[in-house]
Amino acid sequence: MKLWGGRFTKPTNKLVDEYTASISFDQKLAAFDVQGSLAHVDMLAKCDIISREDSTTIAKGLKVVANKISNGEAELTQENEDIHMNIEKLLLDEVGAVGGKLHTGRSRNDQVALDMRLYLRDALVTITQLLDELQHALYQQATANLDTVLPGYTHLQRAQPVLFAHHMLAYVFMFQRDMERIIDSWKRVNRSPLGAGALAGTSFPIDRHYVADQLEFDSVIENSLDAVSDRDFVVEFLADAALITTHLSRLSEELVQWSSAEFNFIELDDTFCTGSSMMPQKKNPDVPELVRGKTGRVVGHLMGMLTTLKGLPLAYNKDMQEDKEGMFDTVETLKGALALFAPMIESMEVKKDNMYEAVAKDYSNATDLADYLVGKNMPFREAHAVVGETVLYSIEQQKYLLDLSLAEFQQFSDAIEADIYDVLAPKAVVNARNVAGGTAKNRVEEQLKQAETLFASNQAWISKKAALLEELTIEN
Ligand code: ARG
Repeated sequence: MKLWGGRFTKPTNKLVDEYTASISFDQKLAAFDVQGSLAHVDMLAKCDIISREDSTTIAKGLKVVANKISNGEAELTQENEDIHMNIEKLLLDEVGAVGGKLHTGRSRNDQVALDMRLYLRDALVTITQLLDELQHALYQQATANLDTVLPGYTHLQRAQPVLFAHHMLAYVFMFQRDMERIIDSWKRVNRSPLGAGALAGTSFPIDRHYVADQLEFDSVIENSLDAVSDRDFVVEFLADAALITTHLSRLSEELVQWSSAEFNFIELDDTFCTGSSMMPQKKNPDVPELVRGKTGRVVGHLMGMLTTLKGLPLAYNKDMQEDKEGMFDTVETLKGALALFAPMIESMEVKKDNMYEAVAKDYSNATDLADYLVGKNMPFREAHAVVGETVLYSIEQQKYLLDLSLAEFQQFSDAIEADIYDVLAPKAVVNARNVAGGTAKNRVEEQLKQAETLFASNQAWISKKAALLEELTIEN
């Protein structure tokens, strides 16, 4: 008989069992479900709702069940629908009827909301750890490339030279905002819904704050209806994840371009590439391509969750069981991508000479010629026109600006003097951008320092939260 079978006269249709069961995926929550139950049952004894003896028996039984599940000894069944009822059933098998006291003052509705939050809390810490590793890999490439000049692009047309360190740091700061969003979301995830019961609270004299403390939550959710019915913390996580994968996808696209023969700016390490079954010469950047591709599923999960919630009346509805697979898949997808990205970035070869060549054989110093003329008191608009003509002339002559003789320059403006050759040299062009956040070497070094400060504060947060979760696992 089902745990809720009392009111029924017939067994459930087999297809209904199959259709409504969530055990195939929510078994991922097993350890968190037990963690929540241990705190709950301890509280029931503390509040004299059940005896301490019963509480201890149940807690021991729960630990045995948790072990059996984790080493594959326990049988999880569709008849028992979800992880919550499977665990309760296994507990009953383990300790007998007293196990039936566990669910006093609790509903699966507050229980599942709790499990989701415990799971996500864990995932947030792992994701910040992986983001931190990626930021360090990018940072390390930046420090190794403080003198590497490459064309910066707009419209994928060579625009102005930048330092490769500057380019890497752009991603460091992007991932920093991702890191900060994840960290900030913690305070909305880390609140306890337990005690909300099915929707209205419970008639037992429970202590919600005690349970919240045991589980290291910052506070309890104020309103029981809200506690069991919202999944905004899942939406928020999926949105943060969608941005992370979008950032990863942009970096992926650059890696794919840069490793093409057309760019030839980097070479990904052999250990991160794959070959072709037909074309023996191929070395494909499959990892960044697949990361770029998987952005679709994460963005899809965000849309899915928003759509599932849209129009749901309060409080719990079975629709909400759909909150899990997208979240689990997003966590796995992100973990997979981030874990690969850090070592892939760290091990890639940066072809400094090719990058430099692309700057030298180009007109990306044209702005500097215009700025030079502005320095000689020519209005910028006029200087822009003069340089446009100079570039056109150079193209026709099949020369770059630095190939022009002084006489050729002076055809366009007699304000141009011999010092122009120093001004237009790639490194000079880079170092001229000496503005906060600019690509001049000293400004990039400034950004490295700023990144270090941010890393230190990230790490302080990460180690504090990791220790908190660690302690919780040991206690149980
Ligand atoms: N498996 C359910 C879910 O994931 C657990 C909560 C079910 N509650 C209920 N009253 N049917 O949402």
